[in-house]
Amino acid sequence: MYSIAELNKRFGIADKLEFTPLADGLQAAHIQSSLCEARVSLQGAQVLDWTPAGEKPVVWLSPGASFIKGKSVRGGVPVCWPWFGAHEAQADYPAHGFARTVAWEVLSSEALADERVRLHFRLLVDDTINSMWPDTTPLELTISMGKSLELELLTRNEASQPIRLSEALHTYFAVGDIRQVHVSGLEDGDYLDKTEGFARKRQQGDISFNSEVDRVYLATERQCVIDDPVWQRRIVIDKRGSRSTVVWNPWLEKARAMGDMGEQGYLSMVCVESGNAASDVVTIAPGDEHRLWVQYKLES
Ligand code: BG6
Repeated sequence: MYSIAELNKRFGIADKLEFTPLADGLQAAHIQSSLCEARVSLQGAQVLDWTPAGEKPVVWLSPGASFIKGKSVRGGVPVCWPWFGAHEAQADYPAHGFARTVAWEVLSSEALADERVRLHFRLLVDDTINSMWPDTTPLELTISMGKSLELELLTRNEASQPIRLSEALHTYFAVGDIRQVHVSGLEDGDYLDKTEGFARKRQQGDISFNSEVDRVYLATERQCVIDDPVWQRRIVIDKRGSRSTVVWNPWLEKARAMGDMGEQGYLSMVCVESGNAASDVVTIAPGDEHRLWVQYKLES
């Protein structure tokens, strides 16, 4: 692991990118440019927040978030990989996989011609990971930050047999008031309702929120839009290499029990996660690769 001084020497970019310490020995890349402000934790290669210039935050970080080694931060963009939710067979394996709670290394940083800043990470494999996931499947994440935010998660299968995995970019979005938000793009789609034992249902119209919502929408590659009348803006979510969209808000009781959502935090967030889960799991042939790509941008 590089020190903050070494990270800045190798990857810092004047007036755009500086590495800074978080709590508990964790490190973050802090992006401040004419286009946006953002932070990315090296643990989990987790975007912590993203605010386009002149706007309110778009990627939400919980007011109750804590920064602890080995624990995913509540908010931002946790990378769920190589399984989404509970592990199929091993109840003691971490929920949403291990990628979000382990160290990643910075491979490169770049100031693009259009002023965006791009960071390229690779997950560092250790013995604990090897014991849960013995196959050789290098994982990289590229994050491009500007007026839009783009992430690309690249899985390579260097094992000699096909690999099956589930995954998600578990993005927390900031909203003015969840009770007035509508999410569109999933109309007429089938979903598994986690609040009712994964019952399969069909979506009628767009999604609104007045209690806990925890759903995996299946076989959908469509664009989603978070319509926020309070902040008078729309967050547009485009994706590729993803057939599932997960929509989640824990609502009051579950949020309280989680302990890191902040007192009223659930009112100011919604997760719209792009990935591949349940019947949409991905199979990668030996020597092949798979890319999960998302782009977030604002429309007023
Ligand atoms: C969502 C799941 O993706 O993540 C929810 O659908 C879960 O069931 C939520 O509660 C948060 O998970 P975690 O592990 O970060 O608390």
